[in-house]
Amino acid sequence: EQIEKGGYEHFMLKEIFEQPKSIHDTLRGRLLVEEGIIKMAGIWDHLDRINNAQKITIIACGTSWHAGLIGEYLIEEFARIPVEVEYASEFRYRNPIITENDVVIAISQSGETADTMAALKMAKEKGAFIYGICNVVDSSIARITDAGSYTHAGPEIGVASTKAFTAQLTVLSLIALKLGKHKGNLSNQEFMRLITELEAIPKKVEEVLEKTHEITKEIAKDFVNAQNFLYLGRGYNFPAALEGALKLKEISYIHAEGYPAAEMKHGPIALIDENMPIVIIAPKQGHYDKIVSNVQEIKARKGKIIALVNKGDTQVAAMADYVIEFPETSECFSPIVASVPLQLLSYYIAVYRGANVDQPRNLAKSVTVE
Ligand code: G6P
Repeated sequence: EQIEKGGYEHFMLKEIFEQPKSIHDTLRGRLLVEEGIIKMAGIWDHLDRINNAQKITIIACGTSWHAGLIGEYLIEEFARIPVEVEYASEFRYRNPIITENDVVIAISQSGETADTMAALKMAKEKGAFIYGICNVVDSSIARITDAGSYTHAGPEIGVASTKAFTAQLTVLSLIALKLGKHKGNLSNQEFMRLITELEAIPKKVEEVLEKTHEITKEIAKDFVNAQNFLYLGRGYNFPAALEGALKLKEISYIHAEGYPAAEMKHGPIALIDENMPIVIIAPKQGHYDKIVSNVQEIKARKGKIIALVNKGDTQVAAMADYVIEFPETSECFSPIVASVPLQLLSYYIAVYRGANVDQPRNLAKSVTVE
């Protein structure tokens, strides 16, 4: 096992550090920047079917569901197709409106999650075109879908998903851009700008790993005894906040909630005092001014602010108790980069608490029973 961990203390840390490579692998052969195209067999063969969908429903559980929420933002922004994101366990028991004009996308690392599988079968019976985004090749979900795209993140052993999540976001980015380009929603110039940025993501992830590893480790020491955490973000980074909170819950057993930053005033703000750590994702691109005022509201209530900002940020950084810098990118890709320091922060808090990081209590890597 030590050999499999490649010198890392846990599989989770190894998998966090594998992300520049896993994202690169996910893009390989698909993102052809020089030719100015995205080549994905699963989408390519069914472009019209997908682009003419009345709506797309994404079904998933856990971390994959968070990826689905970001997928909704991506597909609606670029492909302009209405998207709904559902927990597979809810979808399968509520007789949802699904017709032959629908496309249903299942996102699943393992490709074996019982609820996702059952939901997909139901969608298939209703005549929808079903598409899979799985990591495990030839898994049950991959086999029953009409088409799909693998994430190619490689085996993920740690129960808390890390590299599979960023690979899911990468595939969803490719799909959304491909659909958008085909539909004519994106000019050549805009498409080229976006795919060039996407190609640079593995490098940015490498940079963020290098630059935030030590600082997240240091910050984690101050929160070993925290009992609650709030994670806030807006736009594309709202689901990233949900995922950050889930990561912390899963492995450190600290209660954590993710929230859209502006919704804070409808509830969580009541919890803020000097004992409440608040992680806020505040990239330059993506409602920055709005986030600044959310941070001011937290500051006025003495919450402990851990801010994720882009390099050179001054406004949010000046109000924060802790600052984690990450490289700037278009808002639509920023969750891929911002998720990495959040994974590291959860990891180190859990390690300092002496938790079993790779196999947290009560959790399973793949939930094959209901
Ligand atoms: C379990 C795992 C999570 C995962 C979820 C969905 O809860 O512990 O890490 O996100 O299942 O799994 P899937 O394989 O369908 O993505």
